[in-house]
Amino acid sequence: MTAESPMFGRETLDIIEQRSSTRQFAQDVEITDEQREAVLHAASRAPSAGAMMMYSIIDIRRQETLDRLAVLCDNQPMIAKAPWTLVFVVDYCKWIDLFEHIGCYDHDFIARTGIDPKLTPGLGEFAIAAQDAVIAAQNAVIAAEAVGLGSCYIGDVVENAEEMGDLLGLPAYTVPLSMLILGAPAKDRPATPHPTVNLVMPERYRRADEATLDAQVAEMDAMFRPHATRPGERVLDIYMRKHTSDFMDEMGRSMEIWLDNWMYA
Ligand SMILES: Cc1cc2nc3c(=O)[nH]c(=O)nc-3n(C[C@H](O)[C@H](O)[C@H](O)COP(=O)(O)O)c2cc1C
Repeated sequence: MTAESPMFGRETLDIIEQRSSTRQFAQDVEITDEQREAVLHAASRAPSAGAMMMYSIIDIRRQETLDRLAVLCDNQPMIAKAPWTLVFVVDYCKWIDLFEHIGCYDHDFIARTGIDPKLTPGLGEFAIAAQDAVIAAQNAVIAAEAVGLGSCYIGDVVENAEEMGDLLGLPAYTVPLSMLILGAPAKDRPATPHPTVNLVMPERYRRADEATLDAQVAEMDAMFRPHATRPGERVLDIYMRKHTSDFMDEMGRSMEIWLDNWMYA
């Protein structure tokens, strides 16, 4: 970022407040090396459990890979038009390799320490490694905004596990959990409304009562369905388009494969 950049000096909270997902990219604006370095460096500066960095970032620019990702990620053509794509892979393979590399699985180490070799990660490792990967992705999102780039998460990257694994060359103990498409925004983007009713709960979880549910429905309709003719149109929309969708079924099927690949490969 330079002093001439329109984003120079923007406060972090302003960036967070004004960010919105970018799905259309200016095709004639090149991403500079400085912008790429700033985004990738910010990702690497994210908090990480035990500073173990249990993720890898696959940096994708080849058009044929983007074309394939557009299909595999629930047919989203905008992915093929993204100038830059980053896949945040939850990665314990690198630790298994390191343990092996320094001899943790060698007979003499086992005899000396009495520690049975633990050859695969489990769900505990997944819980922290998944957080590592997503936090790094979000650092990249904020850094991208700070240097004038927009971005959009693509959750469908977990779908079509078999083909996705082949396309990205993913080994055992990895899961491609998060994907970002990035580039210069084609147009100004107003911030998307984000509901807040029933979000923050003092001290203990409190399941919503009828009045709270009514308030939640009203807030969401006001934000997303201002011309709704009856209450609950937004919730119904989510039920139809997300909760009962084919893509969610496919995500579920693929996540079972990814978790198998994580724990039992
Ligand atoms: C985990 C996750 C997955 C997402 N997947 C997609 C996606 O596949 N396609 C898409 O267009 N947007 C996707 N989004 C973007 C959301 O739709 C967007 O964040 C949401 O509508 C709120 O809008 P905002 O980001 O502009 O605030 C995803 C966001 C997240 C956090």
